[in-house]
Amino acid sequence: MSFQAPKGTFDWMPPRSEWALIVRDALSAPARRAGYEYIETPAFEDTGLFSRGVGESTDIVSKEMYTFQSRGGQSLTLRPEGTASVVRAVIEHGLYGGALPIKLWYSGSYFRYEKAQAGRYRHFSQVGAEALGAEDPALDAELIVLAADGYASLGLKNVRLLLNSLGCKECRPAYRAALQDFLRGLDLDDATRQRIEINPLRVLDDKRPEVQAQLVNAPLVTDHLCGACKAYHEEVRGLLTSAGLTYTDDPKLVRGLDYYTRTTFEFLHDGLGAQSAVGGGGRYDGLSEMIGGPPLPSVGWALGVDRTVLAMEAEGLLAERARHIDVFAIPLGEEAKRRIFPLVGKLRRAGVSVDMAFGGRGVKGAMKAADRSGARYALILGERDLEAEAVQLKDLASGEQTAVPLAEIVATLKEKLTT
Ligand code: HAM
Repeated sequence: MSFQAPKGTFDWMPPRSEWALIVRDALSAPARRAGYEYIETPAFEDTGLFSRGVGESTDIVSKEMYTFQSRGGQSLTLRPEGTASVVRAVIEHGLYGGALPIKLWYSGSYFRYEKAQAGRYRHFSQVGAEALGAEDPALDAELIVLAADGYASLGLKNVRLLLNSLGCKECRPAYRAALQDFLRGLDLDDATRQRIEINPLRVLDDKRPEVQAQLVNAPLVTDHLCGACKAYHEEVRGLLTSAGLTYTDDPKLVRGLDYYTRTTFEFLHDGLGAQSAVGGGGRYDGLSEMIGGPPLPSVGWALGVDRTVLAMEAEGLLAERARHIDVFAIPLGEEAKRRIFPLVGKLRRAGVSVDMAFGGRGVKGAMKAADRSGARYALILGERDLEAEAVQLKDLASGEQTAVPLAEIVATLKEKLTT
């Protein structure tokens, strides 16, 4: 019997797997430079955290959670996103009592039981950043700029930014009612009619052309913002422009999580087909209170690692990367292996990347492995070399070979590899 990775999951295999690491590093680097500190939370949480935090009416909570009962009888859920967990941890550890905003970043695996397709997985990876405890348009703008910097640092050129404001608890109810009035007058199926009553904003996100055609004259949230939300949004827009960022106002931008207030945004890449969102986020001023915490106005984003790699591939940025090995060691015989083994360790500790021939496949096999490794040099140790206390250093590009005393090889290689 053989096994395969479960539907909707995949393996990151070398050499491509290197890009997952590179993207994770690149997307988090700008936030780290801006004072965001690392947080790691559990991969599963109390189910109630997500149903209350992300929202019962969302697809994520109603259809996509991996929920199970622990042996102790508690309902647990594999995290479908990171924000609710971060807020839970901040409340649990009382961080809100210290300096604000609390700036945190994270990276890890997330789980959603989605319809599996290209770019949409049941197990995927995000880099996220959250700034908690401050209501300041500059913080919203900072986060958006940091995400854009992350994409740009990878060489991505075709990432677009959509921007919206969803209002606050003062102005959203009136907008929601106006939207419901409008939607109830449309020709829609029963499931969509139900959605009008539970989560009317989601109807704006319906992808079907026959629904979109009827939404042309739908009331727009940006026309219903209260004075404070309008001013806040204008300030965010101005700051983004001052930072040189271009964006498109999209008053129909609705996110798939219920906790958003005011600023919401999404980064899209056009080379990805239907799953075009490479990242998204927004402000969530009420989330802390929704899960039993103090008022903690906050903003954040999460960027999709898998989709960012796909976007890079679409732009031809996934150049072949050589295995990062400088030196390949080849012992000829058992005694030579015993001598070369500690030398390999010494070289590695001196900062040189070294691999060696394993499995006793003979000189020919070992030389082939050395070539395949992408190493610049082979270190060959034969019986005669052992007697001479020397090792053969072979430049694998030129084929040139010289004997170097064993006592000098670390220094010699270090020097050669820095030139
Ligand atoms: P989200 O929009 O659900 O937001 O996810 C953020 C990003 O994760 C998406 O733009 C996408 O790139 C990636 N992603 C989501 N689902 C999948 C999937 N099934 N397969 C592959 N990639 C996926 C959040 O998760 C919020 N927690 C963001 C946030 C942080 N808002 C405030 N703070």
